[in-house]
Amino acid sequence: MKPNDSIANIVVIDDEKYICAIIAEALASAPYHVQTFVQPVAAMEYIKNNRVDLVLTDLVMGKRSGIDVLDLTRKHHPDAAVIMMTAHPTVQAAISVLKKGAYDFLVKPFKLDIMSATIRRGLEHQRVVRENLQLKEQLEFLKLSRANVAGTEIEEYLKLLVTTCKREFSAVAVGLIEFDPDTNDILRLVSESDQECNREKVELSDTHQLIDNETGEPVIKSWPVEIDGQTFNEIFICQPILMRRRLHGLINILIVEKFGTVTPGQVDLLAILTDSAASAIANHNLYTDLQGSYLHAIKALANAIEARDKYTAGHTDRVSRLAELVARFLGWNDHQLRNLIMGCTLHDVGKIGVPDSILNKPGKLTEEEQDQMRDHPTVGLKIIEGIDLLKPAVKYIESHHEWYDGTGYPKGLKGEEIPIEGRLLAVVDTFDAIVSDRPYRKGAEIAVALQEIYKYRDKQFDPELVDSFFNAIRNKLINLSEFYDSEIDTSCLDEMPVSEKARV
Ligand SMILES: [Fe+2]
Repeated sequence: MKPNDSIANIVVIDDEKYICAIIAEALASAPYHVQTFVQPVAAMEYIKNNRVDLVLTDLVMGKRSGIDVLDLTRKHHPDAAVIMMTAHPTVQAAISVLKKGAYDFLVKPFKLDIMSATIRRGLEHQRVVRENLQLKEQLEFLKLSRANVAGTEIEEYLKLLVTTCKREFSAVAVGLIEFDPDTNDILRLVSESDQECNREKVELSDTHQLIDNETGEPVIKSWPVEIDGQTFNEIFICQPILMRRRLHGLINILIVEKFGTVTPGQVDLLAILTDSAASAIANHNLYTDLQGSYLHAIKALANAIEARDKYTAGHTDRVSRLAELVARFLGWNDHQLRNLIMGCTLHDVGKIGVPDSILNKPGKLTEEEQDQMRDHPTVGLKIIEGIDLLKPAVKYIESHHEWYDGTGYPKGLKGEEIPIEGRLLAVVDTFDAIVSDRPYRKGAEIAVALQEIYKYRDKQFDPELVDSFFNAIRNKLINLSEFYDSEIDTSCLDEMPVSEKARV
């Protein structure tokens, strides 16, 4: 008979057949499923392949001992209680088995009511251990929720969620797929798998056809599979991620196990994790939209500044694109690149505070006018102050006029005291400024600008970033003819030795 999930499954092992029979009879009236064995090997095979809550085993049984049974049970059923029986007790043996994780010790011959009471306590202990394991799972979930609330990056958060699902379900693979509800195009895919062949199974999004959008219930399918001559159950769970009753994604879970099924508790936990994923994705999308709107508004502001100065038309856009290409060459990730676009777009936003008469002055600026011009990073910071969404632009705005040798402004920072964002922007911002026409002079040729940048390597600029900029041009990652109408001659780069690595 197969044990019922709600009834405790007890295994009794003793090489004396009559002892097995007496125990089975004594427990017959209790709500247990009792399986008796006189052969420890057969019992161990049963324990490996079935759900077990409590084991009552003799300590000495020919070649096999109760210790072997104890070790095996703890390996396959960490929450099960093991009670050891022996007719020849020694204090040392008792201490030894208890240390190894046995729940209790019964000395033969024992009274049957004492045995029944010990079993009852053992099952209560097993229930508490199981609850503790569940609490541990909930703790993991709380950690996950906290990561979400703390604004952890969405990719990091979803990875954590996939890892949690994999652990809680003892799954061989878990995949989380976010797709566009209109086009079904995959927007995000996070998966974890023990084997590549299983990864493919959980990365499939066509299982969404099985989903009922109204209920949001998971689809659970299982089938037997042969692995190394043994039969296992392969269980596939497809859990929909719904937002306003529209399907935005799936969590696919693949489990391969010998016995048992997905428990209602696990299904509940998955529902909570899925809600958490849905709200994290929705929050992230909202945040990105909002950030996009802010950026759009600020871009309009930057364009308004450029419009005041016909000489700087397109400067912000070119600088953003050039900086992005160098950053890609340096291996910056998507998050860093998004921040870079924002920072480069806003880097001169403080020029809104500089009067037209100074911005467009054809001659040399007076000292006072220069001071006003040099205020633009500080004014820029004030403009975006208090707007959390624009915080990533701070480093670009405040440090793009700092010099590597410490003689720049506004703070006079030196070397790596200057954030890398500012050091990178300084190179491409200055390069574009040299090439562009100014009210007081005509734009220089590309070769002249490159030589000028090289000349100020170590003084104004971080030498490694100058090298990276030049190497990105050499490696054709940057094609300057896409940026400038003037004649493009970069042959001068051959005479400017730079480090081949030039990556930071
Ligand atoms: Fe500037």
